[in-house]
Amino acid sequence: MGGTFYRGRRLRRAAGLRAMLRETVLRAEDLIMPYFVLEGGQSKFRAPIGAMPGQCQLSLESLQEEIGAAVEAGLRSCMIFGLPVKKDERGTAAYAENGVVQTAVRRLKSAFPRLVVITDVCLCAYTAHGHCGLVTPEGMVQNDATLPLLARTALSHAQAGADMVAPSDMMDGRVAAIRRILDDNGFAQLPVLSYAAKYASAYYGPFREAADSAPRFGDRKSYQMDPGNAREALREAAADTAEGADILMVKPAGPYLDVLRALRDRSDLPLAAYQVSGEYSMIKAAGMQGWIDETAVMLESLLSIKRAGADLILSYFTAHILQNRLLP
Ligand code: PBG
Ligand code: ZN
Repeated sequence: MGGTFYRGRRLRRAAGLRAMLRETVLRAEDLIMPYFVLEGGQSKFRAPIGAMPGQCQLSLESLQEEIGAAVEAGLRSCMIFGLPVKKDERGTAAYAENGVVQTAVRRLKSAFPRLVVITDVCLCAYTAHGHCGLVTPEGMVQNDATLPLLARTALSHAQAGADMVAPSDMMDGRVAAIRRILDDNGFAQLPVLSYAAKYASAYYGPFREAADSAPRFGDRKSYQMDPGNAREALREAAADTAEGADILMVKPAGPYLDVLRALRDRSDLPLAAYQVSGEYSMIKAAGMQGWIDETAVMLESLLSIKRAGADLILSYFTAHILQNRLLP
């Protein structure tokens, strides 16, 4: 047993050496925590999200309080999703100067200047029909007519003080439209994190309750990607890169690690991955039943996403991990 066959065992035997040789290590800097903020909620209001145990829709004040505690525990970055009071056909509340996200960003940046605040840019939580873009009377999603509204939304987030904007709508050409409006308005330095490979996934189920963004008719299969396609993700990523995306995202994360790895091998841009609501809820549910070791599975799932090539990971576990000091 002197040769190569035994080498792994020799290197794994002592915990100290094992830690020194670990190729991938999860850090607080890798993690981004998503939050859902409710417009017009009473000061201390928090509404637990049934399908996402441990997560809440938060009023502005509760959001600040919750993020304050997370920042204290080492939170570096958050992603903000808004729930407006009023929805309409054109998603007007998404690009209102005093919309819920814009107000939240202003508040957070003044309370926590070093927190990296990222905003989700999309219309689905703001449109009465629940689609990510404008729809025709026949119910067709209109790609090109949606672009100016997404651009306006991104600009309004930038003007509120967001550190980065993240378009999740999957309209073609939106990165270019957003890049142009930012550049034309003095935000040439603001990065765009593009949801480049976003699949039409059943794993988003719990999120649609959280963000009240389920489509009222039809589905998102005409603009989100087909789960069977991996090469298409490379084309989407190439297009977003050419349009000026600064960071590319794969979403969901765990079920699409092959896509993440393929992108890592072909792109030199930083990569993000979104461990989505369904991934979170499945781990929570099995953990609550005592069927798995929830903490161990949560950390292993995130380590695997990083190992596959993610530089940044959006995860609803972020605040819990930091507050319970679960990182090495
Ligand atoms: C909306 C959006 C979705 C998610 C992020 N932005 C849902 C969707 O496309 O239906 C999903 C996030 C999650 O499931 O955690 N554009
Ligand atoms: Zn959307």
